[in-house]
Amino acid sequence: MLSREENELITRVGPDTPMGNALRRYWIPALLSSEIAEPDGPPARVRLLGEDLVAFRDTEGRIGLIEEFCPHRRVSLYFGRNEECGLRCVYHGWKFDVTGACIDMMNEPEEYDFKHKVRVTAYPTCELGGIVWTYMGPAEKIPPLPKFAWTQAPAANRHVTKVIEECNWLQALEGGIDTSHAPILHRLLTDSSKRGGIKPSNPFVRGKAPKLVVDITNYGYQYAGIRPLDGTDDVHIRFYHFIMPFHQIRPSKSESGLDLDAGHIWVPIDDGNCTVYNWSYCPDGPLTEEDKLERGLGNGPLHVDPVTFRSKANRSNDYMLDRSVQRTETFSGIDGINAQDRALQESMGRIVDRSKEHLGPADKAIIQARKLLRQAVKAVEAGQSPDGTGTSYYPLRAHEAVVPNSADWRAELAPEVKREAILQTV
Ligand code: FES
Ligand SMILES: [Fe+2]
Repeated sequence: MLSREENELITRVGPDTPMGNALRRYWIPALLSSEIAEPDGPPARVRLLGEDLVAFRDTEGRIGLIEEFCPHRRVSLYFGRNEECGLRCVYHGWKFDVTGACIDMMNEPEEYDFKHKVRVTAYPTCELGGIVWTYMGPAEKIPPLPKFAWTQAPAANRHVTKVIEECNWLQALEGGIDTSHAPILHRLLTDSSKRGGIKPSNPFVRGKAPKLVVDITNYGYQYAGIRPLDGTDDVHIRFYHFIMPFHQIRPSKSESGLDLDAGHIWVPIDDGNCTVYNWSYCPDGPLTEEDKLERGLGNGPLHVDPVTFRSKANRSNDYMLDRSVQRTETFSGIDGINAQDRALQESMGRIVDRSKEHLGPADKAIIQARKLLRQAVKAVEAGQSPDGTGTSYYPLRAHEAVVPNSADWRAELAPEVKREAILQTV
């Protein structure tokens, strides 16, 4: 539970809000590289942390991410011409380069030299893992590039999609790091079902309710859901990372059965909407075309409009809930694991009232994430760098295994995180 004030503090992200200032100290996914694939191709609208921006790839391949509205008379530069190393407003022909400098004005005589007096806000960008990332904070505080292990993988071994979720970024994030819901909401009722979900014979579902262990680190935390398996001395351990301020790494399997690392990034569009980036990465080889459909997750082209990034199953059609499927095949009756997540997270309203919750021990990871986010706000207010702006998260991997109850699971499942890096276990 959070007080109303605390809830406001960590959910609101616009310019000059405390959480908005903290988030602006990290590299933030702005759009998929494929949205602005070609030099001089069409620009793309980007709304990020309540700011309207436009992205374009110039003639030289450099990426511009600038404020959407032309400083002359405020029309949208989305309608602009992307040509000869700049984006030109089609109203009176003012042209801006990737640094935000105005480099030409078609409606003013050259001798006035007015163009040098005009600029637009432009944020620095980098391209990693099929995503264009941006940094929206103070220039002197820019952190090292977001070189997560999955961003360094060969492109053929990696897949990234995105989908717009119609609720605040934090409740989407909390849904993703909430391990106790996964074998319940995402459960299939029969092993023979071909729908997306977790089969009843999977130890993740067979195991009893989990005990959660959260190891706080300087990037966020590593955490494990430990489920005793009936009639054995074994436990099923599902082991994740939460990397500040909005990343998860979790173990997964591809549609074709490959072992994967996968994860989400929950990026605020504004206070009431977020973009969820879904990535997966196979260390052992390329993903198949079938894997890239993300049928089971409900994030691929079969389920999400590839132009608007809106989910076909959405609030307006009750997420295509099928009560007969709910009776016979899946626990929820909604198709697609992440479509199920979106349905329930959006059902809370745009920003859930956390003063009315009743959290238990199974919500430990959520409670810790909120605490770390509040600490990040305080750190930034005190002039310090928030956690997760170093490089310690670069090598992190996720794991899942059935091990003897007595096993040293940290040593077996989390070799990237040295014991001395664990600041506290809760
Ligand atoms: S409004 Fe853009 S150039 Fe006039
Ligand atoms: Fe889920």
